[in-house]
Amino acid sequence: MSYFDSKLLAKFEGMETPFYYYNLDLLQQTLSKAKAAADKRGFHVHYALKANFNPRVLSTVQSAGFGADCVSGNEVQKAIEVGFPASQITFAGVGKSDKEIRTALQHGIFAFNVESIQEMEIIDGLAAEMGVRANVSLRINPNVDAKTHQYITTGLDENKFGLPNSELERAAAVLRDCTNVDLVGLHFHIGSQITDMNVFKSLCVKVNEWKNWFEERGTTIRVLNVGGGLGVDYYAPDEHPIADFETYFDIFDRFLERTPNQEVHFELGRALVAQCGSLISKVLYTKNGVKKHFLILDAGMTELMRPMLYQAYHKIEKVGAGAEDTTNYDVVGPICESTDAFGKEVPLPISERGDLIAIRTAGAYAEVMASRYNLRDEVRYCYATEGQLELANS
Ligand code: LLP
Repeated sequence: MSYFDSKLLAKFEGMETPFYYYNLDLLQQTLSKAKAAADKRGFHVHYALKANFNPRVLSTVQSAGFGADCVSGNEVQKAIEVGFPASQITFAGVGKSDKEIRTALQHGIFAFNVESIQEMEIIDGLAAEMGVRANVSLRINPNVDAKTHQYITTGLDENKFGLPNSELERAAAVLRDCTNVDLVGLHFHIGSQITDMNVFKSLCVKVNEWKNWFEERGTTIRVLNVGGGLGVDYYAPDEHPIADFETYFDIFDRFLERTPNQEVHFELGRALVAQCGSLISKVLYTKNGVKKHFLILDAGMTELMRPMLYQAYHKIEKVGAGAEDTTNYDVVGPICESTDAFGKEVPLPISERGDLIAIRTAGAYAEVMASRYNLRDEVRYCYATEGQLELANS
């Protein structure tokens, strides 16, 4: 299966650009591989909604049997509406508001991943007020370097996430005094787009240490939640359309010390949805600057801000082009900001007004991070599935 079905490409010509293109067949295959690799080892995977909550993407993930990892009351609400069972929904985040906590308590979600002692006390109080009980996992900051971009590293001492080791003794004591909170597990998440698998081995070592620390103190830990973070290949999406879930899960299988009946939970976002999406844009103008050739697209940082925000690399292609002579272009958007560039000195077949450009690996943290800056249009999207192009709001 090629990512862009040549029969469907012809239909792109008549569509208003820019738009997100989601290959739902690739999504389905990715989900099946991930699910099979997890099931084989008895692992539970929660999908991190924050990566992409586009309607069909989300319903496809839900139908594939994943749980949901949410980071806002609205995400919890959305997960429920889409059909994720409440018993498979977790709620994470350093700054949960009282309203959001109440929403999650009302729905009786599986657990809150708690990030501070104060938050634990607030959840306890709100649960008592509502006459319900709340499951919590303690998010521990393990001080493991994820060796990824500094903006998406979360598990170092200087990051705002999780409980520092120095607070755990007190957290355990406060937990004992909470009347409406039950500890179900420990939670870790060290960062995103992790491609060095040794990082996950180091995480396992820390998880084992903390699990033992709690168990030595007589606390039962039912769930070890090791977060997400598995990276994808932004450079070669066609060579590696599906992340290596086998190797990833195998590391946890081998290096985590699980006691019988202990569950292992994951919160994967990017690895499940990144490769199925692309941003399709049209060349508005070509311009030769003093030093540069510019391709000015009708998409910009308002549709996909990862390159501008994290200096993230996305492969840029001329849609439908074969092996043609190339020129190096600065591929830029229409937004009134100098940072509005998808790539500099990108070798591309010589392009002209009206040509279609695909920005690949844009299924995760892309459409969801779009904005209306410059009063741009709402983001458009379409789906390819079983040889058909389904126009959604395009
Ligand atoms: N669990 C927690 C607690 C998280 O904070 C995240 C992502 C995930 C799971 C899912 O991680 P994943 O499997 O997707 O790596 N906008 C950035 C990425 C931010 C990630 C935030 N947290 C980007 O575009 O690279």
